[in-house]
Amino acid sequence: MTFSLGPKATSAGFRLAAFDKVGSTNTEAMARARQGERGPMWFVTTEQTAGRGRRQRAWVAPRGNLASSVLEVIDVSPAVAATMGFAFGLAHAAALQRVSMEANLRLAGADQLDYRLKWPNDILVRGEKLCGLLVEAEAVTGGLAVVAGIGTNVIAAPQGTPTPATSLQALGVHISAEELFAALSDSWVEFRGIWDHGRGFACIRNAWLEHAFGVGEPVAIKAGATTVEGTFDTIDDTGCLIVRTAEGKRMPITAGEVHFGTAASVGAA
Ligand code: BTN
Repeated sequence: MTFSLGPKATSAGFRLAAFDKVGSTNTEAMARARQGERGPMWFVTTEQTAGRGRRQRAWVAPRGNLASSVLEVIDVSPAVAATMGFAFGLAHAAALQRVSMEANLRLAGADQLDYRLKWPNDILVRGEKLCGLLVEAEAVTGGLAVVAGIGTNVIAAPQGTPTPATSLQALGVHISAEELFAALSDSWVEFRGIWDHGRGFACIRNAWLEHAFGVGEPVAIKAGATTVEGTFDTIDDTGCLIVRTAEGKRMPITAGEVHFGTAASVGAA
């Protein structure tokens, strides 16, 4: 199969660069932006040779998993661009819900999966990581180049990761990367419209919280040498994670390693 955009993405003017193999779809998208590409444009492959994760980690995935990134040059601040990740995570969760429901119907009704968003933007199923998301932004002529990339474990999950990982295949959802990508490209048209360059973040935030993993649960966040522990209260109107400490203090968190559960301990990861 070859990659193609969904009908809504095509009508909305998105373009597509599909690769048999590429270093990183995020890197490729940002390189094109530096050369003058304005988007909106998707970059997609089933094999990355230099995939990148958050916090300077490598994103290693076998051939057959989905790596996709969308580029757009827009006139927003970096802080607003960061909120796009929440809309992007929701769009992908909605696409997963749709294609897995269709796949399950083909298989005569397997259980419906509950896709949960873990702050800032992993997608988990049954507490295991299915997707990782990386949003990057850089000033270019004419605005801010924003690249939102997502890696989805379609056929297999990496072993030995800090957060246990799963794949669609392991969950009994037998769909191809190509089928999932077409659904994501259409879903993004919808959620990008709601996000509306950040103007619709209040609506995105509400929807995100409805699908969030771990609200009200014990959480520990490690940022550099500092660890904050408490309860995951909410996210605020800028996308910060709000932790309520045992002393009742409300701590906004902008970045860090997040661990949930009663045994939330940063040493565990
Ligand atoms: C993470 O969980 O650390 C984020 C992983 C992001 C991986 C995706 S795959 C598509 C895009 N290209 C990359 O090199 N990284 C992102």
